[in-house]
Amino acid sequence: MEDLKKYYSVSGSAFGGGMKKVVKANETLTFEAHEGETLAIVGESGCGKSTFAKVLMGLETATSGQIMLFDENVQSTPITRRSTDTVSSLQMVFQNPFDTLNPSMTVGRQIIRALEIFKQGNSDAERHQRMLELLDLVKLPRAFAERMPRQLSGGQKQRVGIARAFAGGAKVVVADEPVSALDVSVQAAVTDLLMDIQRENKTTLLFISHDLSIVRYLSDRVMVMYLGHVVEMGTTGQVFQPPYHPYTEALLSAVPIADTKVTRQRIVLEGDIPSAVNPPPGCPFQTRCRWKSQVPGGLCDREMPPVQVLDGGHQIKCHLSADVLAKMEPVIKIAAE
Ligand SMILES: Nc1ncnc2c1ncn2[C@@H]1O[C@H](COP(=O)(O)OP(=O)(O)O)[C@@H](O)[C@H]1O
Ligand code: SF4
Ligand SMILES: [Mg+2]
Repeated sequence: MEDLKKYYSVSGSAFGGGMKKVVKANETLTFEAHEGETLAIVGESGCGKSTFAKVLMGLETATSGQIMLFDENVQSTPITRRSTDTVSSLQMVFQNPFDTLNPSMTVGRQIIRALEIFKQGNSDAERHQRMLELLDLVKLPRAFAERMPRQLSGGQKQRVGIARAFAGGAKVVVADEPVSALDVSVQAAVTDLLMDIQRENKTTLLFISHDLSIVRYLSDRVMVMYLGHVVEMGTTGQVFQPPYHPYTEALLSAVPIADTKVTRQRIVLEGDIPSAVNPPPGCPFQTRCRWKSQVPGGLCDREMPPVQVLDGGHQIKCHLSADVLAKMEPVIKIAAE
């Protein structure tokens, strides 16, 4: 993605009428995902994660900027005008499996329907066989083919959602908080299943999450978003160790850790994420940043920070000088035994 912007136009008051307002859901997102990697996308609710996923999928079109899928420009091609090949190679696992299955169709039928849309298999018999294999893949009993969605638990429904996403040999899968609507007891199993399939198929997985403890163990790289911007991006090792973007530092300090050998500096983020209708001038994070005073001349209040590229390609969008960044302390410390 290069300089992707997505603005929504909404009416000024909830009761209609009034001036049109513009919601700046995505502001100049630039990043790339590599073949076979898991890229985690993290950030508070409202920072624009689902918006970019929808634009990538073609469920919305971009306001400006470019999205290259392999060597095709897709930013202004809605899903209805994308080729079967493009649609099947780029798939999504949605946050809420309760909304995405057709309530009046058996599980087997829904998967076969996906295979038909993706033009998989040469006959009904072949597609039936492939459907059974997809149930195996997501570790559901083959007998579930005859079940209706209402006879499935949330975790089982999400497994069907995963089977459908991979039905056409997807090369890129976007999983938008795929387990956050599920019971805590099944979250780990569904996440592990998704990761197993990703590794097996060498799928590029964009894993959208607000849970940094999960992200830490499953992702190759991490992208941190704030108010429609990418504020930090790097390998998981780079993002979880200083120097941090000040926002990432605060997010990391809030990760719950059970281990008593671990001490953690708690940084409280004051206030909510500002409105995307009326973002602050200068740095998007300046209204909540505890490091702002380290930048001379009130620069943070006035100017959008540049993306600094540090060692190993680690990117931080911030005005802090290299010296200040280099002296940042880890927020999580593990005591020596
Ligand atoms: N269809 C829409 N119309 C207007 N505003 C929207 C629409 N979808 C999302 N937004 C707004 O865009 C911003 C980003 O939302 P979203 O991408 O859903 O964030 P996230 O997934 O990170 O929680 C929010 O301020 C949200 O209210
Ligand atoms: S640019 Fe300034 S306000 Fe923004 S994160 Fe960096 S130090 Fe904080
Ligand atoms: Mg979302």
